[in-house]
Amino acid sequence: MKGKRAFRILFVDGPNLNVLGEREPSVYGRETLADIREAVTAAARTEGATVAFFQSNHEGEIVERLQAAKRRFDGVVINPAAYTHTSVAVRDALLYSGLPAIEVHLSNPASREGFRRVSLVEDVVVGRICGVGGYGYTLALLALLRHLRREGARGRA
Ligand code: DQA
Repeated sequence: MKGKRAFRILFVDGPNLNVLGEREPSVYGRETLADIREAVTAAARTEGATVAFFQSNHEGEIVERLQAAKRRFDGVVINPAAYTHTSVAVRDALLYSGLPAIEVHLSNPASREGFRRVSLVEDVVVGRICGVGGYGYTLALLALLRHLRREGARGRA
């Protein structure tokens, strides 16, 4: 990876994503969060990026992790889970981090209950990937790295 910067990406997962694989498998599939992280880690290795993972069922812990990420990471992949639809605090913490982010959802919230159509982060992220299961996390990593490389190239131009 000579001459290339190793971008540091933080993956943040919200409530109930620790029980993926057992949780409503007809909606979320049988893949566990550990399986997803394994695939992401393999993709990061290929891309020469560094990844870190955080999951919490507690809003305040997610806020604190996003605050701590400021200047320590280059970007965030976030699945706020249920907090997507409710948490101004998570949105504010993401804004505070100042980091470019990709929002991921395993399911497609737009095809589910009405309350899932609202995302309090959708307008402050670079983009959103929904409805392709755990694969969305790897896609999000690739999309974020492409964004960061482009931003870097723009900065040098
Ligand atoms: C989810 C969608 C949310 O509506 C839900 O509350 C989740 C998971 C998804 O990944 O599809 O917990 O974020």
